[in-house]
Amino acid sequence: MSHIFLPKTLEAVMDPIGGVVDAGHPMRAVVKGAAFGDGSWNGVRAKKVADLFDSMALEWKDRENEGCSIVMDSFDRIQFTTGRVLEVGCGTGEVLEVLKGYFDEAIGIDISNAMLRNSNYPQADQANCDGAHLPFPSASFDAVVIVNSLLFPSEVDRVLKVGGTCFFVSTKGAGTPIYLSPYDVRRVLGVKYQAFTSASGNGIWTALHKSA
Ligand SMILES: C[S@@+](CC[C@H](N)C(=O)[O-])C[C@H]1O[C@@H](n2cnc3c(N)ncnc32)[C@H](O)[C@@H]1O
Repeated sequence: MSHIFLPKTLEAVMDPIGGVVDAGHPMRAVVKGAAFGDGSWNGVRAKKVADLFDSMALEWKDRENEGCSIVMDSFDRIQFTTGRVLEVGCGTGEVLEVLKGYFDEAIGIDISNAMLRNSNYPQADQANCDGAHLPFPSASFDAVVIVNSLLFPSEVDRVLKVGGTCFFVSTKGAGTPIYLSPYDVRRVLGVKYQAFTSASGNGIWTALHKSA
């Protein structure tokens, strides 16, 4: 496994790489099941997760989104930011707005219709669908960005071009409720991905470059 820990550019107030893992958080099992493809992600679970985030959408739009500075930190250092990008689990759109400044085209998807309806950037290209079943052709994106959302590795791999990059961000490091460790992210995407991980503020980002 090829993790290179780059220098921190922002002051970390905790150690995100070795931080406290809230293993008891109910979303942890959901996230792992989806990422490792254990069959637990189905229509019933998808509906529960969509309902959960629908119920949070109104307050979500007023949150300060720590993901914006963390994705900018990863882009400024990794620099694979041309072409077309997909954000999976875009919520109310703040990171998607940042992506528009780096890529030629940025599209967001979210399973929660209420998140999209309450988007802070309603003019952006956004679609209501499940990240487990992306309505896009294979090899149609140069990058996929996921901030505090679920990773469905086979779909990410399908839509990413060879030479493309997946950015996986956990804004509270190992304390993020929807969390997968950089090690697990690399493991589920497989050996053709070269991974770079770094801390940024309270968060962790991993950029995974698809080599084949
Ligand atoms: C913790 S929020 C993060 C939202 C946004 N990325 C941010 O940083 O503000 C998780 C988001 O992922 C979305 N989500 C969860 N499961 C999903 C799935 N299977 N497909 C697409 N979006 C999903 C939720 O609806 C929610 O908007």
